Amino acid sequence: MKKTKIAVFVSGGGTNLQALIDSEKIGALAHGEIVLVVSDKADAYALTRAKDNGIKTAVVVKKELGSQQAFEERLQRILEENGIEMIVLAGFMCILSADFTSKWPKRIINIHPSLIPSFCGKGCYGLHVHEKALAYGVKVTGATVHFVNEIPDGGEIIFQKPVAVLDGDTPEVLQKRVMEEAEWIILPKACEKVASEIVEKGDNYGRL
Ligand code: GRF
Repeated sequence: MKKTKIAVFVSGGGTNLQALIDSEKIGALAHGEIVLVVSDKADAYALTRAKDNGIKTAVVVKKELGSQQAFEERLQRILEENGIEMIVLAGFMCILSADFTSKWPKRIINIHPSLIPSFCGKGCYGLHVHEKALAYGVKVTGATVHFVNEIPDGGEIIFQKPVAVLDGDTPEVLQKRVMEEAEWIILPKACEKVASEIVEKGDNYGRL
């Protein structure tokens, strides 16, 4: 059976990458194959996870390339060289321009640790998201997987999963619960959904 060739973009610890690797191992990511992990940070622990699992890695550092355009051209070249058909942003801390995202319509997904449209958009990443949720006093938060377009956290929603906010939560405690109860579940699920749609609809998926 044909499988969609997936690149996972990371910047940090890579627990979401690990969830994707585990899902492929147990056969739940049946229509996708993680063939490449790209990091914008040379010391991201996610790279170790990739290597431990025999997945090819690449490091592309924006500062070294000097401009957003040069950064995205390098990314595009690496993706083409590896025959990539779908990209998963799993804790990738760089914003991608419309130039780049328009080349990958319905082929880039991202995991965000809140229920979009709450606590999202430019500058709302990592622990800040949970700090904002706690400061607002919401009783339910969660995670969202969405397609990526030129608007940060603005693309079509694929899956969402709610998570309770409990008395005494700190941003760190809430972040961990959102990861365990939502992110690591819906990201592999969404990845399989999109990968199977690409297999089913072929090379033109998203491009017509
Ligand atoms: C996750 O909370 C994800 O939702 C956000 O960045 C974090 C990445 O964590 N986009 P990890 O590197 O997958 O552990």
